[in-house]
Amino acid sequence: MERGSAETDMSWVDVPHRLRAGAALPEPWEKLFGPLRTTSAFGTLVIGQLGQTLDGRVATLSGHSHYINGPAGLDHLHRLRAVVDAVVVGAGTVRADDPQLTVRRVAGPNPARVVLDPRGTLGGSARVFAADGTRRIVITFEGTPSRLSNDVETIALAGSTTHLDPAAILDVLSQRGLRRVLIEGGARTVSHFLSAGCLDRLHIVVAPVILGSGLPSLDLPPVARMTDALRVPVHPHLLGDEVLFDCDLSARRAAAGAASRSR
Ligand SMILES: NC(=O)c1ccc[n+]([C@@H]2O[C@H](COP(=O)([O-])OP(=O)(O)OC[C@H]3O[C@@H](n4cnc5c(N)ncnc54)[C@H](OP(=O)(O)O)[C@@H]3O)[C@@H](O)[C@H]2O)c1
Repeated sequence: MERGSAETDMSWVDVPHRLRAGAALPEPWEKLFGPLRTTSAFGTLVIGQLGQTLDGRVATLSGHSHYINGPAGLDHLHRLRAVVDAVVVGAGTVRADDPQLTVRRVAGPNPARVVLDPRGTLGGSARVFAADGTRRIVITFEGTPSRLSNDVETIALAGSTTHLDPAAILDVLSQRGLRRVLIEGGARTVSHFLSAGCLDRLHIVVAPVILGSGLPSLDLPPVARMTDALRVPVHPHLLGDEVLFDCDLSARRAAAGAASRSR
């Protein structure tokens, strides 16, 4: 497995612990991960991530995405996993990729693994549910029968039968002590959280790849005019030959939270 330089790896080792302790990070990590240190006014910190091609695709049309990103982009994804309490994926990603969601490429603890499977489609053989000592949680609609073993925590959310409310998902995770959360994919899941104003940051890692067809990246409700487009402060970083766009969505999250409190 390709990794960063030994020097970079050494300076990373304490970062997950220092971030949780609220301490400053050694460079180059402070610029990238310092914004994830403090939780928002809602008591949680939520980061979305997507790895995409230059033409905005997250997978081929058949759903193959391993791997759009190269070693530096993948190391970054594993670093994000190492600094969060929980990593969340949609059922579509588990069906397509059977991911492990562990920290394997860099030093750091494994986060709890959370799957949004509203209709209970997944069986216990998915690797995300492997009993490896890491907490595993599945979130479903209320009344959905589970096919998973009892050591996978099941959280059933009431409400709409078409859509799990991202704010409600974050509430139930926070109540279980999971307050720094990575929404890892796929694009539909990240789009739900972005639309609901439930992301503080969005890390989009653009790889030097052109697919020309494939599954699209973010999919949000249409706007008629460019003036209505979402424009947010962005901090670009070079990761090898890839570019990470670190989008600061904290103002949007605060506005969405204030609106829901006033309803
Ligand atoms: N490039 C990347 O960074 C990246 C990352 C992850 C995945 N991928 C690729 O993306 C593809 C899968 O992504 P996807 O967008 O199709 O699917 P997805 O986001 O992984 O999963 C979508 C499904 O998850 C459930 N879900 C998620 N959020 C929900 C909500 N708020 N309310 C109700 N249900 C919710 C629904 O399950 P049901 O379908 O059961 O209703 C929904 O259809 C795969 O090809 C994978 O390889 C790429």
